[in-house]
Amino acid sequence: MSGELSPIDKAKFVAAKRAADFVESGMRVGLGTGSTAAWLVRCLGEMVRDEGLKIKGVPTSTRTAELARDVGIEVISLDEAKWLDLTIDGADEFDRDLNLIKGGGGALLQEKIVATASDQMIVIADAAKEVGALGAFPLPVEVIPFGWQTTQALIEETLVSMDVMGRSSSLRMNGDVPFITDEGNHILDLHVGRIGNPRQLAMILNQMPGVVENGLFIDICDVVIIGYGDGRAEVRDINAGTVTTDQLDFVENENLFADMSD
Ligand code: A5P
Repeated sequence: MSGELSPIDKAKFVAAKRAADFVESGMRVGLGTGSTAAWLVRCLGEMVRDEGLKIKGVPTSTRTAELARDVGIEVISLDEAKWLDLTIDGADEFDRDLNLIKGGGGALLQEKIVATASDQMIVIADAAKEVGALGAFPLPVEVIPFGWQTTQALIEETLVSMDVMGRSSSLRMNGDVPFITDEGNHILDLHVGRIGNPRQLAMILNQMPGVVENGLFIDICDVVIIGYGDGRAEVRDINAGTVTTDQLDFVENENLFADMSD
């Protein structure tokens, strides 16, 4: 079955599979959202089923909650968990300091709350997500529906004085209607091109009325695991300052690929 996966999907799977090694029985684990995080949830489901792994998962979206239950992971709310041992999630971009842009899947608010409530955050990604400077990927900002156009105008006006290349933004759509987040909000995608000072931009955005949260994750991620289509997984730990590379064997995971082919 692995032959049916694209190189990018293989890379995502490899990163997810390597990250699953960090999960131990008894842990409360934040479960990210997106295509890479979905591989992780499937891998953990397989470990629950076949290896007796006992974990409690806190999903970061209704999509992830549904998948986690489907694969047999016990799902609890963040308030039930109170604090998490580990969160594993994807990202849209990461830089050398492991600062991130997230929210391409629209789940940035729950993702940031869950990651911040965790002892450790591991990001899983393919190599294309690494950037010299954040911002080529449009920066998602979650805004409340009330007065969203006024909030958009305020954001664009503020961007003029920020260290960014562009200042246009667009309302994220779901077909013909605005995209609605799990919390009932809208997403504005900021086409800033390049963000010179991500920390400053994150703080300024969150001070604006109407803005609920932005997709810049600053000093939240501890480890990034980069998967490659040939089975290599590179683990970069920003706190320990270490970089290690392992090779994963695809053949052993044929059943998992079969499960994922839907
Ligand atoms: C979800 O809101 C996002 O933050 C995702 O984690 C991010 O978009 C990465 O998604 P993929 O793993 O699908 O690229």
